Amino acid sequence: MTQLDTYIADHKDSFLDDLKGWLQIPSISTLPEHAGDVRRAAEYAANQLQQIGFERVEVIQTQGHPLVYGEWLKASGKPTVLIYGHYDVQPVDPVELWQSPPFEPTVRNGNIYCRGAADDKGQTMHVFKALETLMNVNGALPVNVKVLIEGEEEAGGESIEQYVKTYPERLACDAALICDTHMPSEEVPALIYGLRGIIYTEVEARGAKGDLHSGTYGGIAPNPLHALAIIISRLKDADGHIHIPGLYDKLRKPTHAEKKFWHDDPLHMNEALREEMGVTQLSGELEHPPMERIWARPTLEVHGIIGGFTGEGAKTVIPAVAKAKISLRLPPDLQAGEVFTLFERAVKEVAPPDVSVTVHNLHGGEGVLVSPDTAPMRAATEALKETYGRDPVFIREGGSIPIAALFDEVLHVPVVLMGFGLPDDNLHAPNEKYSLNQFYKGIRTVATFLQKMG
Ligand code: BES
Ligand code: MN
Ligand code: MN
Repeated sequence: MTQLDTYIADHKDSFLDDLKGWLQIPSISTLPEHAGDVRRAAEYAANQLQQIGFERVEVIQTQGHPLVYGEWLKASGKPTVLIYGHYDVQPVDPVELWQSPPFEPTVRNGNIYCRGAADDKGQTMHVFKALETLMNVNGALPVNVKVLIEGEEEAGGESIEQYVKTYPERLACDAALICDTHMPSEEVPALIYGLRGIIYTEVEARGAKGDLHSGTYGGIAPNPLHALAIIISRLKDADGHIHIPGLYDKLRKPTHAEKKFWHDDPLHMNEALREEMGVTQLSGELEHPPMERIWARPTLEVHGIIGGFTGEGAKTVIPAVAKAKISLRLPPDLQAGEVFTLFERAVKEVAPPDVSVTVHNLHGGEGVLVSPDTAPMRAATEALKETYGRDPVFIREGGSIPIAALFDEVLHVPVVLMGFGLPDDNLHAPNEKYSLNQFYKGIRTVATFLQKMG
């Protein structure tokens, strides 16, 4: 046991208590009624940094939810590591499917259940506790550290984008660390070298000036719900191909090694994916392997359709308005702004002429590919190896962390995506959980990573 291990073992309970205290705050960024909770969660994070002995700790006001910043820059001559996390969480609906209330952190079978447990309070807590451990064991940190935590990641992250673009010199660093991704299993650590970007839109179709009786007007009235169904079915066909002219033009070709990995599937991910979803067959573009489909192909998904009558029983109405929430995942090189223009054009092109259609751009973020061959990646590789006893796999993920691309583009530093989530953590779903083993191993690994950077 190293001194770090001893400190972590001795403080297991207090680490968990601090995580629970943070998890209890329902910091749902997308729901305006939770703005006060989001702020309390920011203050909680600032308090953690203060207790560790960080300086210039600040809850930074923005147009939206606050950012939290803190720094410790006394390791003269050593590199500076910028660490990012997010303290906001997704909504909890459908709440009746939770086995314990979504904001009552509950330990069952070695997991802690709570919204935000894995995404991303649990993983941001690694950072606080790794810093605390290093500070208390050594009296100092092995590197200079800047911590920047946001409260809008799950809602598009406008404020942090503005902050990073306005004050790049404040965030000057030699490497960035983000703990907000997964490992394929508890035994197989991973470093993520690619993420997809996203555009999230709302398509609104309007027909008559008000709702209509479907007997009196059915046959001559425009139906916005049906119009949306037509639009959606024209945008993506049954084989998973997206019909947005120009969408695939800039798609980067995968490397030979990637194609081989996806085709051979040495980690047996295809079967694991089927099991995680509880399906017997995978959907989408069958001519591409599943890993390519989730990591390196664009997708178009409908998240919800609003309109008309959805209550109990029957009501014969033709709605005047209907809306669909539609997003696209964008592999690196497909730029959010450009794709939105193509998407809007395609929607208008296929929309039936009897409805008027507006396309709103709710938020977007770019994908990223990082080089696996940098000093920080090597430090992360060694740190994971020490904790897990084997080299990490280098894989992509299909989710989006817009700040990763921004750090890459604005700060020009290697971005290390080292996360400890597991495939069955139920991110964004009922019964989100985080493995306590992963929680403690993550703390140890982040501490070791910082030591190796020093
Ligand atoms: N931590 C996730 C992203 C993620 C999920 C990365 C799974 C790797 C694997 C993040 O909090 C998230 O949910 N991002 C949103 C981004 C969006 C709202 C801009 C996403 O991917 O939907
Ligand atoms: Mn996250
Ligand atoms: Mn998330």
